[in-house]
Amino acid sequence: FSAFLTDSFGRQHNYLRISLTEKCNLRCQYCMPEEGVQLTPKSELLTTQEIITLARLFVKEGVEKIRLTGGEPLIRPDVVDIVGQLYKLEGLKTIAVTTNGINLTRLLPRLKEAGLNAINISLDTLVPAKFEFIVRRKGFHKVMEGIHKATELGYCPVKVNCVVMRGFNDDEVLDFVDFTKDLPLDVRFIEYMPFDGNKWNFKKMVSYKEMLDTIKQRWPELEKLPCETSSTAKSYKVPHFQGQISFITSMSEHFCGSCNRLRITADGNLKVCLFGNSEVSLRDHLRSGASEEELIQIIGAAVGRKKKQHAGMFNISQMKNRPMILIGQLFLPG
Ligand code: GTP
Ligand code: 5AD
Ligand code: SF4
Repeated sequence: FSAFLTDSFGRQHNYLRISLTEKCNLRCQYCMPEEGVQLTPKSELLTTQEIITLARLFVKEGVEKIRLTGGEPLIRPDVVDIVGQLYKLEGLKTIAVTTNGINLTRLLPRLKEAGLNAINISLDTLVPAKFEFIVRRKGFHKVMEGIHKATELGYCPVKVNCVVMRGFNDDEVLDFVDFTKDLPLDVRFIEYMPFDGNKWNFKKMVSYKEMLDTIKQRWPELEKLPCETSSTAKSYKVPHFQGQISFITSMSEHFCGSCNRLRITADGNLKVCLFGNSEVSLRDHLRSGASEEELIQIIGAAVGRKKKQHAGMFNISQMKNRPMILIGQLFLPG
């Protein structure tokens, strides 16, 4: 594996998250402040060609999975073209997207045709009125339709991301478990994380142990499933249910030790950790004519500076970071 993508703790970064846009057609409360965020001018965002050039470089160095994020990646007009071009990169095994699902039904046939392998869809509530409250927009039925469409087109499992917030949707955990009964879903309960402007507080966070207790009371026969070492999720299954459930325990049990991810923001910054705020502009180096070799050196130096873990729950909640929407749907460091 490439020395450039291996950090000083031996972690091999074979998973790249690329944010395609800072824009979103929703306004989720936990992701961005009510007033929105200051958007980067279009000229400073990566072009299609720059995205592909960088992706090719990372794949050459050993990246096997690319996840397209945002903002909302499916509002970028060239998203199908980007997937199609990524599909041609030899060595890339998985092209995934994390979406809010609003445009999914419309775009999915073309995305699938272009080579999209995996889909994660955000959905925090099964109650339409609560959906409108949390995302500050309409669209519940479109998202549900998108989830069904993804299962119909053979995506398996379709991952459903549910950020659990006390007093908002913690009473729906069992309903979300039931959602996996007849559909090949992986419903992933995510511990609520603090980002700039999202009004996080400790009391709103529900730990995975608490959720697991609730679920085990209803389903004592819940089975633990084996998981991949670099997975962010701990997975379980109710026997005989078609789908499964998972927990993403970024707050209560970080997974920095096995982190294999890097991310590129829509404005072209390499971020080696979701929570770290040190960034290097790959865009500027690309635009000033850096050679492939120079870019690899720059990337390698940034990966080499990656910290062992983010600084614990207290420090994360105090840390200056971007709002989530400007990071590119998250990935936690640990
Ligand atoms: P898979 O590739 O399917 O495992 O997806 P994922 O979980 O990596 O990505 P997704 O975009 O669906 O993000 C779901 C949740 O994972 C986010 O809400 C984050 O909580 C968490 N996550 C994603 N990336 C990171 C990361 O780099 N560090 C940490 N700590 N959490 C992350
Ligand atoms: N805490 C936890 N998860 C979050 N997401 C967005 N903001 C937060 C937060 N503050 C989730 C979204 C999306 C995923 C990429 O990140 O629900 O599914
Ligand atoms: Fe948009 Fe996703 Fe942020 Fe919601 S969480 S505002 S859908 S980017």
